[in-house]
Amino acid sequence: MKHGKLFCSNCRRSYALHPMRWKCDCGSFLDLEFEPKFPMRKILKRGPTLWRYREALPIAREESIVSMGEGVTPLETMDFEGRRVLIKVDYLFPTGSYKDRGATLLISKAKEQGVRKVVEDSSGNAGSAVAAYCARAGMTCEIYVPATTSPGKLVQIGAYGARVQKIEGSREKAAEAAMEAASSLYYASHCWNPFFLHGTKTFAYEVCEQMGWESPETLVLPVGHGTLFLGAYLGFRELREAGIVRSIPKMVGVQSAACAPIYLASKKGSQEIASIKERETIAEGIAIAKPVRGRQILEVIRETGGEMLTVTEEEIKVALKKMGQRGHFIEPTSAATIAGLRKYLKDIKDSSIVSTLTGCGLKAAEKIGHLQMDGRWNRG
Ligand SMILES: Cc1ncc(COP(=O)(O)O)c(C=O)c1O
Ligand SMILES: [Zn+2]
Repeated sequence: MKHGKLFCSNCRRSYALHPMRWKCDCGSFLDLEFEPKFPMRKILKRGPTLWRYREALPIAREESIVSMGEGVTPLETMDFEGRRVLIKVDYLFPTGSYKDRGATLLISKAKEQGVRKVVEDSSGNAGSAVAAYCARAGMTCEIYVPATTSPGKLVQIGAYGARVQKIEGSREKAAEAAMEAASSLYYASHCWNPFFLHGTKTFAYEVCEQMGWESPETLVLPVGHGTLFLGAYLGFRELREAGIVRSIPKMVGVQSAACAPIYLASKKGSQEIASIKERETIAEGIAIAKPVRGRQILEVIRETGGEMLTVTEEEIKVALKKMGQRGHFIEPTSAATIAGLRKYLKDIKDSSIVSTLTGCGLKAAEKIGHLQMDGRWNRG
């Protein structure tokens, strides 16, 4: 297996892999040079976990792998007002969100590099995932979260034995505090660390295999820092380069109207993300005012002919309620994706569309409970 370097798409510098190297000297994020392999016969013989794509995952030694049997989530066919859409049920992971895709790779790599202690910042779910895989790996873990994070997520992080550092203010303030700690500790950041994306890319592999080794025409995915969005793109790009599929899906991203920096930049045709005034949203997982990989997300939208959509708080609530009526208890952040999907379906006639449910409702039960107490919940 070829193990490449870290490279910067901004200034073209490259670096050898090192546990303390998490960004370029120019300040930009880094990507990983890596050539995946897809030995079909081996893949098809393996069990239903994301590690079935072993040769496409950049971990050198088997004994480094930290796994809880994650992945290969259901791809359910659902009807949205007469339109057939495939929904990847990605809240069915050990920690209740798709972030386990990234965490299993990231923490396996940290283990391989001899790391003993990590720090991460998160709106809650990435923190839970990193904390769980650290517990499995016997690593010490410190998670910085905004003080407003859903209590369920904080309890969950604590349950894995991680130290929770609640930071007053925005999500960015939690990131700043974690980065300071990362000057002496391994930064297990889902946004900066490219190994996380080499985990979330398995979303694409699974969708492709579940569709009979084909690409859908369109993917409708949530975008906060864009770790699923970018991972799914990376996965389909690798599958195309390997000659397994012919095309990469059109990448459609969904943001909350209360915090939509990528939507605004994309609408302006801008290549960089301007700073925005963030308002509160029940979709806490995508409330990211300054996405680390914003430039990369915009490039993916342009390259695939995709687009960004925004959804209002009311639309998120309606989607949350409607998914409950179908037996899916999801968190408001995940309902935002479904609200975006419903909007997208109104105007577009794409033939095959895949979307996802990223987080379990139990994570934000208290916040959902408050919504249910509002008299309007039972209307409509
Ligand atoms: C449930 C859920 N869905 C989607 C997202 C968005 O992920 P990203 O910020 O990587 O775009 C998050 C992020 O925390 C999340 O918790
Ligand atoms: Zn650089």
